[in-house]
Amino acid sequence: MKSDTGIAIVDRDEDGVDKAFRADVLSGLRQHQKAVPARWFYDERGSQLFEQITQLDEYYPTRAETEILRERGDDFARLIGPERSVVEFGSGSSVKTPLLLEAIDPAAYVPLDISGDFLRQSAAALAEKFPGVPVHPVEADFMRKVALPDAVAPLRKLGFFPGSTIGNMVARTAVDLLRSMRSTLGADEGHLPLLLIGMDLVKDRDVLEAAYDDAAGVTAAFNLNLAERINRELGGTIPTGKLRHVALWNDDFARIEMHLRATEAIAFSVSGHDFEMAEGETIHTENSHKFTRRSANTLLLAGGWTPLHRWTDSARRFSLILARATEHRDAP
Ligand code: AVI
Repeated sequence: MKSDTGIAIVDRDEDGVDKAFRADVLSGLRQHQKAVPARWFYDERGSQLFEQITQLDEYYPTRAETEILRERGDDFARLIGPERSVVEFGSGSSVKTPLLLEAIDPAAYVPLDISGDFLRQSAAALAEKFPGVPVHPVEADFMRKVALPDAVAPLRKLGFFPGSTIGNMVARTAVDLLRSMRSTLGADEGHLPLLLIGMDLVKDRDVLEAAYDDAAGVTAAFNLNLAERINRELGGTIPTGKLRHVALWNDDFARIEMHLRATEAIAFSVSGHDFEMAEGETIHTENSHKFTRRSANTLLLAGGWTPLHRWTDSARRFSLILARATEHRDAP
C-alpha cells in the first residue's frame, strides 16, 4: 500500500507481518506497565466490533454527536458557510458526514485515511449521495502533514474530526496531531482554515464506565480481539481465556482506561519472544480522555486552534467545537 507521498504505509516483512504492529507489540509488552497502542484494535474484526459498540445503549457518544449534527445544520451553514473543501480526518461515517455536507454545501470533500479499503468504500458512498460534490480520497497517515490534491488547493478548508478520536491520544500526541492538521489544511500558507472537532465530556463515573464495559460484552470482545489479533498475526500464544476486559475511570487524567487483566499468572510468546504476566497484572490498551469546556479549549489552543463556537447535545454529554487556526503572533 502506498501513501499519497508514495511512501508505503503498511510495511510488511517476507511473511506478510506488519512490521510496525510487531514492533509496537514487542516494545509495549517489554514495558513495566505493559501497553499496546489502541490503533491496533482496528483490524477487520475490530472495526466490525467498533461499529457494534456505536449502536449500544450504554455507548452514548455516537448518538449524542449525531444529534448535534442533525440539529445544528443552520448554525453550521451560518458560521462555516458554503464553498469550503471539507477535509475529513478518517474515512467518513455513513451517518455523520452526510449531515455536515448537507448543511454547508461544500465545494469538495477530501477524506483522509490510512486504510485504503475503508477510504474507497466511504468515498464511493459519499460520491453517490452527493453527485454535485467532487470527492478526492487520499490514502495517508494524517498524524503527519498530508499533501492535499491540487484540485482543492485554492479552496478554503474545513477540517472535520468527529467521534472524539482526539480523546484516544495523550495530550502530547493530540497537540502534535492538531498542529499537523493546521499544516495539512494550509494554515502555514496564510489561510485560516476552520476545524470542526468532536470532544466527549467529563460526566459521572458510572455512565462512563458502563459506556466502556457494556452488559452485552461487545466492548470486552473488542478489547480481547487485540490479544487475539496478536496471536493471529504475530504467532502469539497468549492464553486469551485468562485475560479479562477492564474499563476504569482515571480521575487524575480525566480518562477511561481499558486494560486486559490476567486472572492468573501466565506465560506466553509473541514472534518468538517470551513474556510473563503475574496474576492481576494488566496490558493497557486504550485511553479515552474526556474534556471540560476549559480543558478542550486549552488543548485546542496548544495545538494552534482558537475555539469559536461550541455545541452540546440536549443531555450535555458530548461537544462539537468549531475552531479557527490561530494567527501567529508574538505577544502576549
Ligand atoms: C474511537 N474512539 C473515539 C472510541 C472511544 O470512545 O474512545 C473507541 C472505543 N473504545 C471502546 N469503546 C469505544
